[in-house]
Amino acid sequence: MDAALNTITEEVHKLAKTDDEFLRRRTIDKLRDLQYALETPEETMQRLIYLGLTTASVRIGLDLNIFNKLVDSEHPMKFDELCDATGADPILLGRILRHQSSLGMIDEPAQDTFTASQTTRNISHPDIQAGLKFCADILTPTFLSLPAFLSTHSYQNPTSTDSTPFNTAFSTPLSLWSWLAEHPSHRANFNRFMYAQRSSVKDCFSYLPLDKESEGWPAEKPLFVDVGGGTGQQCVALREKWPELKGRVVLQDLEEVVESVRGEGLEGVEIMAHDFFTAQPVKGAKFYYLRAIMHNHTDEKCIEILKNIKDAMDEESEILLDEIVMPDTKVEWFVTQTDLAMLVQFNATERTEGQWRSLLERAGLKVKGITTYTHAFRLSVIAATK
Ligand SMILES: C[S@@+](CC[C@H](N)C(=O)[O-])C[C@H]1O[C@@H](n2cnc3c(N)ncnc32)[C@H](O)[C@@H]1O
Repeated sequence: MDAALNTITEEVHKLAKTDDEFLRRRTIDKLRDLQYALETPEETMQRLIYLGLTTASVRIGLDLNIFNKLVDSEHPMKFDELCDATGADPILLGRILRHQSSLGMIDEPAQDTFTASQTTRNISHPDIQAGLKFCADILTPTFLSLPAFLSTHSYQNPTSTDSTPFNTAFSTPLSLWSWLAEHPSHRANFNRFMYAQRSSVKDCFSYLPLDKESEGWPAEKPLFVDVGGGTGQQCVALREKWPELKGRVVLQDLEEVVESVRGEGLEGVEIMAHDFFTAQPVKGAKFYYLRAIMHNHTDEKCIEILKNIKDAMDEESEILLDEIVMPDTKVEWFVTQTDLAMLVQFNATERTEGQWRSLLERAGLKVKGITTYTHAFRLSVIAATK
């Protein structure tokens, strides 16, 4: 029996080592289906009812810095060492570690001895940890408010901008953005979460010939405006990819976001506070780039944002929307869950190609092309002109 399991495990590892990203992800999904096919009804119930506890246990592990300690340690750590390092009550810590080990979050190679597992290493990066904190603190309570919210609204697809499941969960009339402005530690986690979300895929600049498209662009004119660009990772990535590009690179976001990078002085990037619901101050840029902005907004709000940019565009300008383009069927779990995360936070949505085309047409823009650059996440750049 063990021999058979070992053979299967080896074969799966060989498959997962493939360069074919699509095959690797299909393997993960197939293994999940296999696991579910083996479960009894009671096991299925046990797995589902404790999903919230997994989130809580990860949060506690982060609060006590258990995962980093195990990753940083050159040897498996003794239970007593972890008690000293965390300051937690030994009986309580034992219970937490047992739970984490039983789910593979950490490994327990011998009695009272713990070490990092693959999951521990995967979640040791600070940006990933910020994402986990944001999800435990903000997203999970918001998800849990969704059933009652939908029932209260008679299961209509919500499109209001001032009554979201987030508003209900946090008893606030503020939008998530305004609320984050008042909660800087959650804001900081959110910003780092944005870095983490796409950290394992190459960004769109590896697939788009923006250098060719902007050949001969005058140095004094704006080349690339990252609208709602967060803390500037894409401006920096653009400069790193093509240091020779001429033209101004501008990072725009809300004041409370860009103020955090002003001191850092991103090389070759102008930093500008700008609310995209107001007129776009940078006129005639070659590229207006918006990554993961439209999916935070209802169609009506997206049209407002797009029209503000359209008014600043000239004949050579393009809008580049870096977003998920959902397939019409068999949508993968990591896309469906992002879609519902947009619903609970903003009453917003991910979109299919048909929905993107219709949205851009309503904003008076023409689709120039759609480049899907990761099939796994269906990340795509939709280019549009006036
Ligand atoms: C999902 S994040 C995407 C950030 C960045 N584009 C990226 O891909 O990492 C959305 C961004 O929109 C910004 N934002 C929200 N409302 C805004 C507004 N009215 N004007 C400008 N930026 C805004 C947020 O501060 C946040 O940085």
